[in-house]
Amino acid sequence: MSTFPSFTGSKCEEDDVEYNKICDKHKHLLETLPKGGGWMEHHLYNYNGFWLSQMFLKASLLVHTYFKSEPTDIVLASFMKSGTTWLKALMFSTLNRDRYSFSNHYLHNNSPQSSIPFLEVNTYPMADFTTFSAPRLYSTHFARTLLPACMSSCKFVYVCRNPKDVLVSKWLFISKLRSKDLPPLSLDEAFELFCLGVSEFGPFWEHVLSYWRASLESPDKILFLRYEELKKQPEVVVRKLADFMGKPVTMEEEKKGVVGEIIKLCSFENLRNLEVNKKGADKFGKLLEVEKKEFFRKGEIGDWKNYLSEEMKDRIDGITEQKFQGSGLIGFSE
Ligand code: A3P
Repeated sequence: MSTFPSFTGSKCEEDDVEYNKICDKHKHLLETLPKGGGWMEHHLYNYNGFWLSQMFLKASLLVHTYFKSEPTDIVLASFMKSGTTWLKALMFSTLNRDRYSFSNHYLHNNSPQSSIPFLEVNTYPMADFTTFSAPRLYSTHFARTLLPACMSSCKFVYVCRNPKDVLVSKWLFISKLRSKDLPPLSLDEAFELFCLGVSEFGPFWEHVLSYWRASLESPDKILFLRYEELKKQPEVVVRKLADFMGKPVTMEEEKKGVVGEIIKLCSFENLRNLEVNKKGADKFGKLLEVEKKEFFRKGEIGDWKNYLSEEMKDRIDGITEQKFQGSGLIGFSE
């Protein structure tokens, strides 16, 4: 049985001329790009309109140089803390539903992060993302416009979430990962940075719009989902995912209750309580390790009400309304 993902791409050698050129460009960019306050590290860098950490700025350069997409690729794209982990589990189990029984599933022994790896953390040597067979599945937090042009032929599933819940989830998550050399980041500081758009992979609104606009132009190529609709009508979304990934749910599967099995397997309660997701850490490249349990906090709609004041709510809702005006994106004030 094949493994996840294999690293047979570019070689990794100190005398790799191309790689050294990228390192030089990275160094130059760090010295010249506009800087903003980082959540996890000291600074973020504004690269082509989006805020990236040092590590992900380099990853962007590497992806543009080394990554070769396939037209059959299906990419899960999201802003951090929008439900990526959930979608990883759902997409993987929907696409591979013939491969595993629901009583003895890959996800019982492996974290959702391992089922669909991130493009930007496997850049040197570049992973080839080969799993069992086409289509390849991988994920990204990069905005649509930061991805290489070759990826315009891929299919994308984008998951978007209410920015107030994203902010709170991200602040709590990053507080655990923040460099110990820095003072803790208060919610007020995080809020201010978020509103200014200074947030890893952000601004949030431009990130969402980059995929939303692309989904309007090519609805067959980009499936735009919302965390909240997934919470309210998971069976509708799973069927949409199955159709979009080219594996519609058959009548026979409907009779057997396959959609319900996928939803149960990937539910917050089930995944959070699996031993494999309670202990140990997921590794993201060489530099980042995250305790698996940190990906499962509350999994609710509207937890922001326990953290944000009325004034904060009004400010974010105002920004959202203004940024999304005329786009057709509505319903984020809940
Ligand atoms: P909260 O912090 O609000 O609980 P991401 O996977 O993009 O990092 O997003 C993490 C958010 O999704 C967290 O939100 C987490 O609890 C929630 N989440 C993780 N798995 C989930 C699931 N199976 N169902 C619903 N929400 C889930």
